[in-house]
Amino acid sequence: ETVDASGKYVLPGAIDAHVHFREPGYVHKETWETGSASAAMGGVTTVFEMPNTNPPTGTPEALALKLKAAEASYVDFGIYGLLGEDNLDQLEALIEGGVAAFKCFMGNTFGNLPSPPTGAILEGFEIVAKHGYRIALHAENASIMARRQTKLREAGRNDPLAHLHARPPVVAVEAVARAAILAEWTGARIHVLHVSSGDELRPLREAKARGVDITAETCPHYLLLDETAYTDKKSLIRVNPPVREKTHQNQLWAAVQDRTIDMIATDHAPHSHEEKHRDEIWVADCGFTGVETQMPLMLSQVREGRLSLTDYVRMTSLAPAKAFGLYPRKGALLPGSDADLVVIDMEHEASIDSGLLQSKGASTPFHAHPIKGAPIHTMVRGRFVMRDQALVTEAKGHGKNVRRIQQMPAPAPRNVETTTQAILAYRPG
Ligand code: DOR
Ligand code: ZN
Ligand code: ZN
Repeated sequence: ETVDASGKYVLPGAIDAHVHFREPGYVHKETWETGSASAAMGGVTTVFEMPNTNPPTGTPEALALKLKAAEASYVDFGIYGLLGEDNLDQLEALIEGGVAAFKCFMGNTFGNLPSPPTGAILEGFEIVAKHGYRIALHAENASIMARRQTKLREAGRNDPLAHLHARPPVVAVEAVARAAILAEWTGARIHVLHVSSGDELRPLREAKARGVDITAETCPHYLLLDETAYTDKKSLIRVNPPVREKTHQNQLWAAVQDRTIDMIATDHAPHSHEEKHRDEIWVADCGFTGVETQMPLMLSQVREGRLSLTDYVRMTSLAPAKAFGLYPRKGALLPGSDADLVVIDMEHEASIDSGLLQSKGASTPFHAHPIKGAPIHTMVRGRFVMRDQALVTEAKGHGKNVRRIQQMPAPAPRNVETTTQAILAYRPG
């Protein structure tokens, strides 16, 4: 297939390490068909999809249901298996079944998956570390949040800013620092999802300096929105963790520059219009669509000189490929399958229109946000999934499970003798 790309840039397709496609279980919010169509239209050629579906992706049976639903995908995908307290004995079967990585909810959010106690997280890290798969963390401390939220509700707070006040930075910092220690102790590879505060950067930097295999992402909403937007956007802007004050945003940009933050992912978290707009803020669902808006939003930042185009490609393609086992080429085990490309037009001017997005839960605080720079054509393994900014509907089902294409490389040997086995074997001398 050919296309005229004169005057345009050809980039590697984006790899979004953080999307929620909701199927099975919440198909009124999103399906694999609509979510992956949104990805294709957003210049995203591979997504990594989260386990807080119904059933949650915590057993091989639930994984099989998800893989079945994912057969409709336009783009390639990796599936996160759930790492929870109740399914530690299922983790190896999930690897066998084809997950590409794991996700642990340290704090609760949509889906109400309970946060495992630290002892269970340690054991889960040990099991997964043996196989090299990366464990992504929703790093928020459930106990701190629950207590704050109770106090705010009792005080009668029902304004959007109360959401931010229930989750001060310490909520995230405590969880990042704890996860880094557990990773160091077990040799697990970890990934910190949605870094939202400047304060998380210190434990991240310290862990990297100690040699922990830790990667981190932030999302467009933390880089482009701040606390002042709550008045206007109300519950639309609510997301876990919350959009914070400008000082955090500035520190996140600095961390993008100094590479403490490795990736930009979206936390694509669609909900229906009415679920997003409930009056009672504590009840309205958190999160919003993102996989289709990331590229135009961030390319606009490239145009404004806040990020170079090569840094953008590193953060949206190279870094996730390395972190999740797709480097140097996705097709290493599948010959002739390398062409994951996006053609972008840096002159394309428009504004984000939630009504035009492919996602079912198209509510976004970026509605009407002006952009300059956008994806025009998307190609997944040599086949167009978007052409001339139109979805190629015949490409539905073209997506493949990347775990079947390429496995995570085995971890380097380590010499820390501090596993549960060693702890149990210990006899005071
Ligand atoms: O706001 C959020 N929504 N944060 C999460 O961590 C989960 C997500 C969802 O699944 O809706
Ligand atoms: Zn999360
Ligand atoms: Zn998420």
